Amino acid sequence: MPLAPRLGVVSAPLLEIDDLHVVVDDEVAGPAEILRGLTLSVGVGEVHALMGPNGSGKSTLANTLLGNPEYRVVSGAIRYKGEDITTWGTDVRAKAGMFLAFQYPQEIAGVPVRSFLQQALAARKGIEDLSALETRLAIMEWMKRLDMDPSFADRYLNEGFSGGEKKRNEILQMAILEPELAVLDETDSGLDIDALRVVAHGVQEVRKDRPELGVLLITHYQRILDYLVPDVVHVMVDGRVIETGGPELSSTLEREGFARWL
Ligand SMILES: Nc1ncnc2c1ncn2[C@@H]1O[C@H](COP(=O)(O)OP(=O)(O)O)[C@@H](O)[C@H]1O
Ligand SMILES: [Mg+2]
Repeated sequence: MPLAPRLGVVSAPLLEIDDLHVVVDDEVAGPAEILRGLTLSVGVGEVHALMGPNGSGKSTLANTLLGNPEYRVVSGAIRYKGEDITTWGTDVRAKAGMFLAFQYPQEIAGVPVRSFLQQALAARKGIEDLSALETRLAIMEWMKRLDMDPSFADRYLNEGFSGGEKKRNEILQMAILEPELAVLDETDSGLDIDALRVVAHGVQEVRKDRPELGVLLITHYQRILDYLVPDVVHVMVDGRVIETGGPELSSTLEREGFARWL
């Protein structure tokens, strides 16, 4: 690992995934082990990129971190701030400060972005009567910082959003909810440069305020790394992390793709 431990502070990594095996039950093919001994760890304030070819299990990992019950952990463990959270439900994880970009339904009919954020923030903070005015101000301030049009807050969640707008909305959620760990899965934005820029810029803006935020950026696509330099790059193939290095590893990926690992 390129990062030295903080002197004098003995603390667990933010996220530790230890020899994780995850099985998915396919309706036709039956159960299949998709994550096959995946190990990685993210420290406080670090940005990690997890890269791998299609089908290597990246979104399976994201779903498992989310606590999606379709993804069964058969052995290994997920620890968050030193606690074993492997069996925790999604809502408990969110409340504890884990942010999973796609944890919310794709479209929620008739719910404006603003109301949604208000509810999500109340849940995260465990405060029912959160000040609507304060939330409104926080949303406005972040929208400005993220170059978002103020009218965006009144639109219905994800209804007719472009790829870039979906990403803006996710990043706005991340900014408002103040997580300690953000897991961002770049599943369907692979070819959308605007969306990549939004994510990179957003992560940088949030880290300006909260440098302790740890980020696991899951991506098929090397291009994001032109905009956001990670501290650590992991290469994932076939359900395992098979190489971990610094940003130079992403240059190798840029040049050669995944060919040398396949
Ligand atoms: N819900 C699911 N049901 C059945 N198979 C799944 C499910 N989720 C993932 N898989 C299988 O797991 C493998 C890895 O998929 P995925 O995690 O989406 O990879 P990646 O995100 O790296 O492209 C694929 O073979 C995929 O078909
Ligand atoms: Mg995927």
